[in-house]
Formats: sequence, C-alpha cells, structure tokens
Amino acid sequence: MCGIVGYIGQNDTKEILLNGLEKLEYRGYDSAGIAMLNDNGMNLFKVKGRIAALRDRVDNSISATMGIGHTRWATHGVPSEGNAHPHQSASERFTLVHNGVIENYQDLKKEYLSDVTFVSETDTEVVVQLIEKFFEKHQDTVEAFRQTISLLKGSYAIGMIDAKDQDTLYVAKNKSPLLVGLGQGFNVVASDAMATLKVTDQYLEIFDQEIVLVNRSFVEVQKLNGTVVDRKPYTAQIDSSDIEKGTYPHFMLKEIDEQPFVMRKIIQEYQDENNQIKLDQDVREAMKACDRVYIVACGTSYHAGLVGKEFIEKLAKVPVEVHVASEFSYNMPLLSEKPLFVFISQSGETADSRAVLVKIKEMGYPALTITNVPGSTLSREADYTLNLYAGPEIAVASTKAYTAQIAVLAILAVDTAQAKGIELDFDPLQELAIVANAMEVLTDQKEAIEDLARNYLETTRNAFFIGRSSDYYVCLEGALKLKEISYIQAEGFAGGELKHGTIALIEEGTPVIALATQTDVNYAIRSNVQEVAARGANAMVISMKGLEQDSDAFVLPHVHELLTPLATVVPLQLLAYYAALHRDCDVDKPRNLAKSVTVE
Ligand code: F6R
Repeated sequence: MCGIVGYIGQNDTKEILLNGLEKLEYRGYDSAGIAMLNDNGMNLFKVKGRIAALRDRVDNSISATMGIGHTRWATHGVPSEGNAHPHQSASERFTLVHNGVIENYQDLKKEYLSDVTFVSETDTEVVVQLIEKFFEKHQDTVEAFRQTISLLKGSYAIGMIDAKDQDTLYVAKNKSPLLVGLGQGFNVVASDAMATLKVTDQYLEIFDQEIVLVNRSFVEVQKLNGTVVDRKPYTAQIDSSDIEKGTYPHFMLKEIDEQPFVMRKIIQEYQDENNQIKLDQDVREAMKACDRVYIVACGTSYHAGLVGKEFIEKLAKVPVEVHVASEFSYNMPLLSEKPLFVFISQSGETADSRAVLVKIKEMGYPALTITNVPGSTLSREADYTLNLYAGPEIAVASTKAYTAQIAVLAILAVDTAQAKGIELDFDPLQELAIVANAMEVLTDQKEAIEDLARNYLETTRNAFFIGRSSDYYVCLEGALKLKEISYIQAEGFAGGELKHGTIALIEEGTPVIALATQTDVNYAIRSNVQEVAARGANAMVISMKGLEQDSDAFVLPHVHELLTPLATVVPLQLLAYYAALHRDCDVDKPRNLAKSVTVE
C-alpha cells in the first residue's frame, strides 16, 4: 500500500507534495514524510500520523523546487517516525520513498550490507543503503540505482533523490502502481493520477521493471538493461471535482449519494442506440466459449462476486465459482476444461487478485477484469476489461463501486444469456433505471436510518446481519461495512445457519438486522427473526414493498427481485456510516486499513 508523490520543476514543491499526499492518504495513513532538495541540501520532515500532522511539522520558510513524499501503511516495522519514509542512506546522500514489499531484503542485507548500521525496521532502508553501496563502487548514480533495482524481488514503486543532483528524480516500478505526470517546465511522479491532477492531466504509464529518469523538461523511460523506451502520454479521464468532498462531511456519504447517478451512467455506457445492451464483442465471445466462470476478488468486491454468481448461473446458465483471491493461489480448485477468470476489483491494483491473474495467465487461461480504473494493473494484464464508471471512490469503505460491480455483472449475465440464445423476461437496463430511482428514495431517508443506527448500534459491542438467498450476500457486505468503519464486531449469516452455532452469542439486547426481500424465503427468515427475538435480541427487519409487515423497521421501494442487493445495501451502508459517526470514528479513514491493498 502506501502512496508516493514527487515533483521537479520551477515552483516551490511543498504544497504540491502535501496536497498530493492528502489525495493519496486513502492508500495508508499511519505515518508520512517529505524530503525537499535545495542549495542548502536535503530538508527532511517525518511524522507518525496523518498528513495534517506533517503539515504542522514542515518548516514553511524552506523553499525547494524538487522533492518526494510518502504516506505509509505499515508492512515491515511499526508505524513510527523512524519507520516513516523518506529513508536515507548512511551518508544521507540518497533519500528514497517506496511503496510495496521487498521480499528479499533480509538476503540483500546479509550479502551486501553487513557493515551498515540500520536506523529503521523497514525493508525500504535496505534499498537506499544498497544504492549508496553501489555508488561507492561505481561513482555513478544511475548505475547504482539500476544495479540496486535489478536485485530487488517483490513489489516496489520507488522515488529517489541524490543530494548532489538537483536535476533528476530517479524512479522505478514493479507490481506497485506508479505514473509520471508531464507538465510545462515541470514533471511529477505519483502512485495515482488523483494526487497530481491539480497540476497536470497528461501521464506516462510505467511498466514493471522499468526505471525512469525525471528531469524538469524531459522524462526518460528505460528498461533495466538501459534500453530507452518510447512511451506516449495519455490524458487522465478524471474530473478534479470528482475527488473533492464538496459540501459533504465525508467522502463515504457523498459516494453513497452518488449511487443513483452511477446506475444511470452505467445504463448510458452499456446501452446502444436501440436501447439494447452494448458490450465488447470479445467479452461476449469469451463468456459464451467458457464452460465455467471463476470469479476472483477480495472483500467487498468478493461480496459483489457472490451476487454475480447468482446472475450468471440463473440467467446465462453458466456454472460459476467465487473465490477469495488470497486463498485461490495457494489452494487452487480443480479447474474445468475451458475456464474464464473474472477479476472484480474497484482499484484494479489489489495484490492478492493480481497474484492469481499472473498465475492463471501463465497457465494460458483467459481473464476479464471488472474495475473502476481501466488503466490499472488488473485491467492491463487481463485480456478484457469492463469499466464500472463509478468515478473515483475515495472513502476506504467501498460503496458505489460495490453497486456498480453488481450492475455490470447483471448486464454481463444478460448479454451472455442473449449470446447463447436464452430468452429472458428481464431487461437489466430498464430494471437498473428503476433501481436508480429507488436508491434516490433511499438516500433521501437518511434521518430515519440515522435513528435506527442510534437506537440499535450506538453502544453495542456486536451486531448480526441475517438473510437468506441473495439477502445473505448483502448481509456479508453490511457486516463488513459496519465492522470496518465503526469497529463494532459484526457478522453476516445465512438465516438458517444461526441455530447451528451462532445463536449462542445472542444475548439480551444483541442487535440483529434481518433482510427480508426474497419471496421464496420470506416466511423462513421471519421465523429466524422470531428465534433470535425469543432469546432477547433487539431485532429489526428491513423488507421490501410487497413483502412488508407492520412491525418492519424499514421498507424498501420495490425493485426487481434479482436486483434487490442494489437496494438493500443502501440502508446498510447508511447504518454503518451513522453508527461510525455517532461513535466518533474516522469514517473515511478507519484504523489499520488502506483503500488499495497492494501487498499480498
Ligand atoms: C471494504 C473494501 C475492501 C475492498 C478490497 C478489494 O469496504 O473496500 O474490502 O473491497 O480490499 O479491493 P478492490 O476492489 O480494489 O480489489
């Protein structure tokens, strides 16, 4: 995880670095630092904590026209000022920031650096000390940088400054995301274009195992063997207003409210002039040709995958398995003869998913990525991509990307059914338009949901979500949202499974949130509610128009039964939001988490 940013130009770098790091804080926020080089030498500032604390620490009287910055999500070494980046070599000549994990850092330390005293517990310090070691030998910074990078195993996005060279930022990348942004008389480096969108929308993609020399007026991309690579820039398609909170107190609330617009955007992007589904012909062929779909994802995206399985199996009659990415690589199931792998990932950068993608590509299987970031690693490395069109998602807890994933999976399932000549009585584009309206009704009922959060969740230690059929999948997501931002221990269960163990946890007043939107199981889930209520649970039912009962706490507008997850999740997102808010939690940046999980 972690975010890095760099600037080399004519203006003072401080604000560009700090502003860039603020935009990257979603990638990690346990410590931060910047280094700026000017005629007086290197100026280094580091803090344990957030960018706001770094802002307070930085000496505003210092002016410099080049620098690098870092916001950290700790992997090796506790969050502390000492472990915060940038790190420096023993002589302080070289200063470096790193995102990723150097897998062989212990070996490198033993082999090359046994005489060096280390001041941090990080894998990163090995890299900067190694550069110095090779510099002592070659007296050439580019060569020392190249030689060091060639020895690294693992993932890295690196920005480095040589204190004796005020004209070059040294950059390298493998598996971790990194872009170089191009300007007039300046250039920038960032983990994500969002960090530097204020100064440029022109970016160069950097591929794995490339190094880049970034000057004020030119950028040279090289392979590790020194061959210069010609690379054309592209225009970043993000509107800078998309990455501001505007009048909202939190990004999460803004992103929950954006969901109706995302549904309409998806309809627009996946609809042709005859109001039919418009989908890449290659994706259609790949879905038609496979004998089994393997969905691979993590966290919220995995939960969307569970809903997707139901769509693809019910509508397109293709068997689907859904796998947690981190388990798949090490515990691979027996594969069918003609598998198609579908990676679902908001960020397109999740390391666990990427590890599976690399493996199945080596095995020669086709892959489709469904992502919110079309130029991301998972998108580039798969054969096909479907875009979510959700716009940048900044809050760590995913909301609009989840509903976008489900909407795109519904469209994909119907397109596959059509390709196979299966007649359906379900038009996903029309039904998604109804969902968009329902979402608007739901996001207008914030006060009612805030009251429920206050009554059921304000002081509780734990909470359970129960549902059957697709309601169960949404329960998993509702529980994840609640636990990750409010720190209430929350679990989602299949209603029928409770009495096989978990019901032992029900005590007087334990909140149980039940979803009841599925006709077939409406009676069964309500029986489960009675069972927990009889044991003292503080149970609430969220149902849907047509299936409601007088005692239900909240009734959703009616949407097509297949698409109920798109409606039911909205009150659960809002419940989590208000529970976290009332418990004084940091809604957008919950503890121990980062938005983009780029380490396995
Ligand atoms: C939870 C959340 C995570 C992500 C997971 C996968 O709110 O956001 O569970 O869903 O880390 O991330 P992506 O979708 O970027 O692969």
